[in-house]
Amino acid sequence: MNSPLADIIPGNCFGTFKLPDPVAFVAARAEGASLWTTDGREFVDCVLGSGPMMIGHAHPQVIAAIQEQAVRGTTFYAMNDVAPRLAARIAEIVPCAKAVKFVSDGAEATFYALRLARAFTRRDLILKFEGAYHGHHDYSLHGLKPSRGANYPVARPDSAGIPAALSETVLVAPYNDLEATRQLIAPIGDRLAAIIVEPIQRSLMPRPGFLAGLRDLCDRTGALLIFDEVVTGFRIALGGAQEAFGVEPDLCALGKVIGGGLPLAAVAGRRDVLELTIPDRADDGRSVYVSGTLNGNPLAAAAGLATLDIIIAGNAPARLKEIGSKIVNGFLEAAKKLSVPLQMIGPPAFADPIFGEGEISDYRSYAATNRTAAKEFGIELLKRGIFVHPASKLYMSIAHTDEQIELACTASYEAMRTIRDKGRFG
Ligand SMILES: Cc1ncc(COP(=O)(O)O)c(C=O)c1O
Repeated sequence: MNSPLADIIPGNCFGTFKLPDPVAFVAARAEGASLWTTDGREFVDCVLGSGPMMIGHAHPQVIAAIQEQAVRGTTFYAMNDVAPRLAARIAEIVPCAKAVKFVSDGAEATFYALRLARAFTRRDLILKFEGAYHGHHDYSLHGLKPSRGANYPVARPDSAGIPAALSETVLVAPYNDLEATRQLIAPIGDRLAAIIVEPIQRSLMPRPGFLAGLRDLCDRTGALLIFDEVVTGFRIALGGAQEAFGVEPDLCALGKVIGGGLPLAAVAGRRDVLELTIPDRADDGRSVYVSGTLNGNPLAAAAGLATLDIIIAGNAPARLKEIGSKIVNGFLEAAKKLSVPLQMIGPPAFADPIFGEGEISDYRSYAATNRTAAKEFGIELLKRGIFVHPASKLYMSIAHTDEQIELACTASYEAMRTIRDKGRFG
């Protein structure tokens, strides 16, 4: 069902996420891991606002923090007394976070991390991995979804409107292939400002030694290593992927959970790099301009602080792993009964159901899986009351109940049976 005012918003969607007509709905409210539509239907929410709501929607402690701050004021532009407390909490648990600079969304965090790296190194080139998503900005939108095999390291834009000159500053490498990355960097190492990587790319796990190898490549070339921890931060371990895999980047981008469902993100990392943003520093040609009306706003900071407190107190990443494993195992069991080639790739906190055999280690092996089946599976889940992003990862929260997981697993069986009976698996 579409909103009666749908036409005023082109595409009737906020970005690229648009459910097809038979399963489209308008969200009315959400609590815990349940979401209700304007026509009164209830869904088990495995989208969770695309990740921020890792402790569930409308958590009473977060609501109380928002209410308390809202009556004191929602944004001042001047420094406030909440954001530094959130920054300190982040610094306590994220290994690389010696300093924290707030922005408003994850794309801004990766955008500024790249600008900082270019300024710090006085170099222009950046390297990203094929299939990695770092937000909507012009640098990130290269090699995200190349339709034909691109020629590494040539960066093809994923959107119209990106200046061709900018594509010359981006190199694209295959994820999980350290040797290829090393070879691509060899001729331009002294011009490379940064390697940016999702430590778990979408839901692809890094091969042992891959992230440490990137650290080493950066150390050898003088480039900065940037971890995009917008998804992995506080989710895969309290200190994010850098804690889980024991590799410390120079900078990391944080987002999603740190705003507790309100707009807030951050670049965190080395103090000497982040101090390039100090407005009145002596100008040596490396000063970096950072600004944003709502950067560090106290409302989102209060929500984020309350969220992090809950995550830390309940060791949420461990809990999430337990809850996620139940859904992963339930889906796999259903697939086994139906002889369907399902793999749940990635960590249980955000596993991605894909249909295909063999190791899925990079964008190309992922793209070669049965994407039609993955999409149809998602749509069938939606028809059965499970809110998922079709053909994408399932975000789990610590609010999902056993009953909701059971519902999702039963729905997965019926959904897979339906697409199998349509002949999707030959
Ligand atoms: C890994 C990663 N980086 C960056 C972003 C961009 O974050 P935002 O949508 O808050 O701009 C996303 C968004 O999903 C993401 O998954």
